[in-house]
Amino acid sequence: MHRFKKGAEKMDSVIRRNLTTSSRFTWLKSHPKGHHEKTATKGEMSKEFKIYRWSHGSPAKKPFLQSFFVDIRECGPMVLDALQKIKAEQDSSLSYRRSCREGICGSCAMNIDGNNALACLHPIDAPSSKATMITPLPHMFVIKDLVVDLTAFYHQYKCIEPWLKPRSPPEDGREYRQSPSERRKLDGLYECILCACCSSACPAYWWNPEEYLGPAALLQARRWIVDSRDDYARERLQALTEDVDKMYRCRTIRNCTAACPKKLDPSNAISNMKVMHQFG
Ligand code: FES
Repeated sequence: MHRFKKGAEKMDSVIRRNLTTSSRFTWLKSHPKGHHEKTATKGEMSKEFKIYRWSHGSPAKKPFLQSFFVDIRECGPMVLDALQKIKAEQDSSLSYRRSCREGICGSCAMNIDGNNALACLHPIDAPSSKATMITPLPHMFVIKDLVVDLTAFYHQYKCIEPWLKPRSPPEDGREYRQSPSERRKLDGLYECILCACCSSACPAYWWNPEEYLGPAALLQARRWIVDSRDDYARERLQALTEDVDKMYRCRTIRNCTAACPKKLDPSNAISNMKVMHQFG
């Protein structure tokens, strides 16, 4: 059995033990009005944020949207700034991931007004506009509030073996070299920050989370296949196609490309690998 499948099964059993299906963000879709809680009142120049709340520590309590109002004159310009302010001043139990606050680490991926995005790069709308709705990445298991379980996502990444695999060290014992044109082949691939915005936006990934590797892992696979310093491109491609669902579950819907906050094109990377597999 493939390593990812084993990992995914283990993860699945842990998650099913800890989480109920009501914890999935999809609950909100069947309860679009949910039940909403307000903790602050609207004031001048204040912006309303409706934030998804749920904790696997209280599985009996259904997910809900909680309203917070933030005075944008006292806040930085990005959605992550508003979350930081809410956590610091209104509710310290609000949970989300963040680290670099400048679009490098990929931690702060979440769904903002229906689109997957990085909160640290997403500007706050004007206070006069409707409330900004912030929910976890779609179709992922929720751990708490905006924090989702990325165990399966990282298993998928690991199974493409994301490291350089040369057959032998350089003859002169120095670094592995590339010409400028060889290096340019990595552009549009190496910039991926593994935020999971693309995979969690992909319907093929939603419905086949254990079989299909998803656009993020496949974009990374392409990055190593085209690397001139790597000597295992054929084997890497073979590993992606030994089980047809791993790559060919992609139906070129292109949601991944639309969702990528780094403006990369995972859909095109997958199509290129399909061509490479079929025509050599
Ligand atoms: S905090 Fe690092 S990408 Fe947003």
